[in-house]
Amino acid sequence: MAENLLKGKKGIIFGALNDKSIAWKAAEKAHQQGAEFVLTNVPVSIRMGTINELAEKTNSIVVPADAASEGDLENLFKESMKHFGGKVDFVLHSVAMSLNVRKKRAYSDLNYNFLEKTLDISAISFHKLLQTAFKMDAINEWGSVVALSYVAAQRTLYGYNDMADAKALLESIARSFGYIYGRDKKVRVNTVSQSPTPTTAGSGVKGLDKLLDFSERMSPLGNADAEECADFLITLFSDLTRKITMQNLFHDGGFSSMGMSLKAMSQYEKSFDCDEIPVD
Ligand SMILES: NC(=O)c1ccc[n+]([C@@H]2O[C@H](COP(=O)([O-])OP(=O)(O)OC[C@H]3O[C@@H](n4cnc5c(N)ncnc54)[C@H](O)[C@@H]3O)[C@@H](O)[C@H]2O)c1
Repeated sequence: MAENLLKGKKGIIFGALNDKSIAWKAAEKAHQQGAEFVLTNVPVSIRMGTINELAEKTNSIVVPADAASEGDLENLFKESMKHFGGKVDFVLHSVAMSLNVRKKRAYSDLNYNFLEKTLDISAISFHKLLQTAFKMDAINEWGSVVALSYVAAQRTLYGYNDMADAKALLESIARSFGYIYGRDKKVRVNTVSQSPTPTTAGSGVKGLDKLLDFSERMSPLGNADAEECADFLITLFSDLTRKITMQNLFHDGGFSSMGMSLKAMSQYEKSFDCDEIPVD
């Protein structure tokens, strides 16, 4: 598929760790659609992951940045503008981390230092990114900034822990900054709420396999995978969606509008045959 939807566009893509990452697929598709971009990730992920392989494949450079560091973000936008000889047109924020999830702290037993880190890295970093770009006037008119979210921002899903609070804040930042960036510089800001997806971050979610199965049964169109998410992101970076802003856009096969489906009900009925239903 080469429609050149992003021909001439320059961007910055956060969060490609390995070839499972949603950002990795987005970078591959953006490259196919004619975009040029800078890849970025936190130094430890650059060392542990395979981002340099992606950079080679897509003719891009890698500029390390901790998304929670204002200094790193300033440097990232400065280096990107130097590289392109001008402003960028799109930015993908595909960044999340929770030490409470990693260290298996229950939501009723949170470590608050970890919580602060979760919010800083997974949500406030989006504000920092937007504020840095805004102050440096680093994004062209009709540019597009997108962050990735999850339905746990609106609905309680067992096991999603403090990431639910981070996603709620992330979506709120998209609305609040979207107003200012749209009004003053004609830049749009949105979040995409993606189906559960088997990536490194995704596998941190408690019982991901069961969650994937449940949401697959609940969604009339089935779960959206990382490639499909990348396709949707391309449309949001393209000129075909210039008046979409301040939205949380569900890319989830219909899951967020469902209450119960036939497939999920049939599976649920089977559990009545069990002598013991595990309680946790
Ligand atoms: N996988 C899912 O089920 C799912 C569902 C909905 C939304 N999302 C969201 O999609 C986004 C991408 O996650 P993914 O599933 O592709 O997993 P992933 O593990 O491939 O990507 C997460 C990225 O965040 C980066 N990161 C962590 N701390 C950082 C920091 N301080 N600065 C910069 N980068 C940092 C990691 O290095 C990694 O590249 C996340 O926001 C995630 O919450 C994922």
